[in-house]
Amino acid sequence: MLKYYLYAIVPAFLLLSTFIWVVVSLIRRCKSWRIAAGIFAAEILILAIGYFVYFTPVEYARNYLDDPPPDPGSLADIANEKGFYIGAAVNMADNPEYRKLVPSEFNSVTPENYAKWRQLLVNDEIGNYDFSKADAIVDYAVEKGVRVRGHTLIWGKFSGRTYPKELDDRIANAKDPPTELRSIMREHIQTVMTHFQGRIPIWDVVNEPLSMDGVYLDKNIFLNTLGRSYIAESFRMAREADPSAQLFINEQFGNYTGELVELFFDLLEWLLEENVPIDGVGIQAHNIFKTHNLDEFRQFVERVADLGLLVEVTEFDARIRLFGEEPDPYRAQSDYMAEYARICIENPACIGFTVWGLSDASTWFDWVPPFNRMLPNDPLLFDVNLRPKPAYAKIRDALARRP
Ligand code: G3I
Repeated sequence: MLKYYLYAIVPAFLLLSTFIWVVVSLIRRCKSWRIAAGIFAAEILILAIGYFVYFTPVEYARNYLDDPPPDPGSLADIANEKGFYIGAAVNMADNPEYRKLVPSEFNSVTPENYAKWRQLLVNDEIGNYDFSKADAIVDYAVEKGVRVRGHTLIWGKFSGRTYPKELDDRIANAKDPPTELRSIMREHIQTVMTHFQGRIPIWDVVNEPLSMDGVYLDKNIFLNTLGRSYIAESFRMAREADPSAQLFINEQFGNYTGELVELFFDLLEWLLEENVPIDGVGIQAHNIFKTHNLDEFRQFVERVADLGLLVEVTEFDARIRLFGEEPDPYRAQSDYMAEYARICIENPACIGFTVWGLSDASTWFDWVPPFNRMLPNDPLLFDVNLRPKPAYAKIRDALARRP
């Protein structure tokens, strides 16, 4: 994450320091003001070009609209037959797309935000829950016989966003921080899992335990207070709260090999050695700045399966601009998406493939900066008019072949 802030901070710093140089040299009547002004102008020019390249909307031909519509029959039907989950994240229960696409196309949904710790709280107050927005999503799915993935119980990445800010103060002022943290975590996990018991059968217990900045675990309040045992303890608390729920660790990878991946496997092996009740690994699969290496992805899935754990692709999306250099970007995107899904579908340990939004009209990229200025994003399976992209038919074929 730090590196993305640096992309903004470094140019701003350079610009400001050159500007100060111009002003100071003018005040002191130094001849160097011309050099300073020249550098300043060059910096502005480079930024303007960068801004133009990144923030001017691009239009890609939608050749897939000329194709005949896919054969009748839905993804959800075939997924149900195969005992596989084709899922979508749902931002709000009253998004009309929800009723249009679920249960006909998706047999699994994940509340995108409303089951997260902070979003469940009234005024960010620990212990003061309002489940109404999450319930509205969950109840519709349950009524239609659609599975719900619970997302997420413990996520330490950003204070005040992924967990309530009040937690920092409570731990900072506690006489015995580990005991205080354990008690708050247990209370949260118990309350939430008990509330949804019988309606949410699978949970992302710990989300994104890896750091985005180096080869180590994310140095969040949970790790800093309890060490890596916070991960094991979260799973034990979750099993205690709802013994029937499947419990997953959920992580985002830019690469499926390398030191960070080895650290992740060390973590999994340690959890298994300690008999921690973990059932599977959720692979988020956001393709943000680059696409992923699919051979390495396949090996990663096989490696998790070899540990005896289940796998799920939990948050797939791939920005169309990653395919902008291809002759037919939407078709290239679809080929990639279908290939990603196929790798999961072909492995019996992989039980589901979820896209992170119902359609291209409901993607987090369109409301989170800087992606909301880098249009189009169009990263999902259905387009803004709910027309399936070419990946749809390919995913359906792959499902039909699943053993
Ligand atoms: O609710 C406010 C709304 O009132 C306001 O008008 C709007 C203006 O920006 O912001 C709305 O809140 C946003 C919220 O999404 C609801 O849409 C937040 O600013 C924004 O930070 C929040 O982003 C969510 C993000 O997680 C942080 O929780 C995204 O929707 C959600 O897609 C994203 O999902 C995460 C997964 O949980 C974990 N893996 C990565 C994935 C993508 O970042």
